[in-house]
Amino acid sequence: MTALGQEEAPTRVPVIEARGLTKRFQGLVSVNAVSFSIAEDEILGVIGPNGAGKTTLVNMISGTYEPSDGEILFRGERINHLPAFRRAHLGIARTFQVMKPFPGMTVLDNVTVGALFGRDGGERSMARAREIAREWIAFTGLGSRIEAQADALGGPDRKRLEFAKALAMGPKLLLLDEVMAGLNPVEVDEVVELIKKMRGQGMAMLVIEHVVKAIRSLSDRVMVLHHGEKIADDDPGAVLEDPRVIEAYLGKRRK
Ligand SMILES: Nc1ncnc2c1ncn2[C@@H]1O[C@H](COP(=O)(O)OP(=O)(O)OP(=O)(O)O)[C@@H](O)[C@H]1O
Ligand SMILES: [Mg+2]
Repeated sequence: MTALGQEEAPTRVPVIEARGLTKRFQGLVSVNAVSFSIAEDEILGVIGPNGAGKTTLVNMISGTYEPSDGEILFRGERINHLPAFRRAHLGIARTFQVMKPFPGMTVLDNVTVGALFGRDGGERSMARAREIAREWIAFTGLGSRIEAQADALGGPDRKRLEFAKALAMGPKLLLLDEVMAGLNPVEVDEVVELIKKMRGQGMAMLVIEHVVKAIRSLSDRVMVLHHGEKIADDDPGAVLEDPRVIEAYLGKRRK
């Protein structure tokens, strides 16, 4: 807040804001002074070559890694030192690049865990958590597999399960790390439609994706990471036509 704060046009506090976020691993700088913000109901697409630091960025926001430098503000509060479970309670949910369904449990039980451990999760009864889980299972199109064992699901249904688990946490910020990896073009379109349907549920989303077509159609803005540095952050058209971005990324990896 500035001294002139009250005279400025009212601006909404971003759901998430990173300032100079940096992660070093034994001298290697994986994420270097990256700043960005995402507003409610906004989708930020994040692209960059393999090893650019995308997952590391998500790990710092979700609380898996502590930043080496910089600040993370969630709805205006500094959360740098909060453990991952506290961030989940605040409303930060993620999917994993390598999917992790709870083995030996049904789809319903998996999603119920999300409903119990997310925002407001601690105050929920088991019955209410199951009710919430059922709603998100239907929303993600997994209704017919609700009693199936999670490990028995095929690829696309596993993605839906990842979404349902994350959504049941009632997130204000959803971090999606390459949820389309391994899907065929038809399945990619289905996931794009699902993410579009999630817009307007009061969340901010950070979507890491290599499928450029999906990034273009989903993102309000696209941020590009290259060797841990942010080299672009603008509307999708401008970013995807930017010669530096094409040089760093699109020219090397066409999909
Ligand atoms: N726990 C760790 N210890 C050491 N180095 C790490 C660790 N995690 C990530 N790195 C390094 O940080 C860099 C960025 O990795 P990161 O996984 O964030 O890239 P990415 O952009 O997600 O790549 P991809 O597109 O392949 O998923 C890489 O050089 C990686 O080896
Ligand atoms: Mg990654």
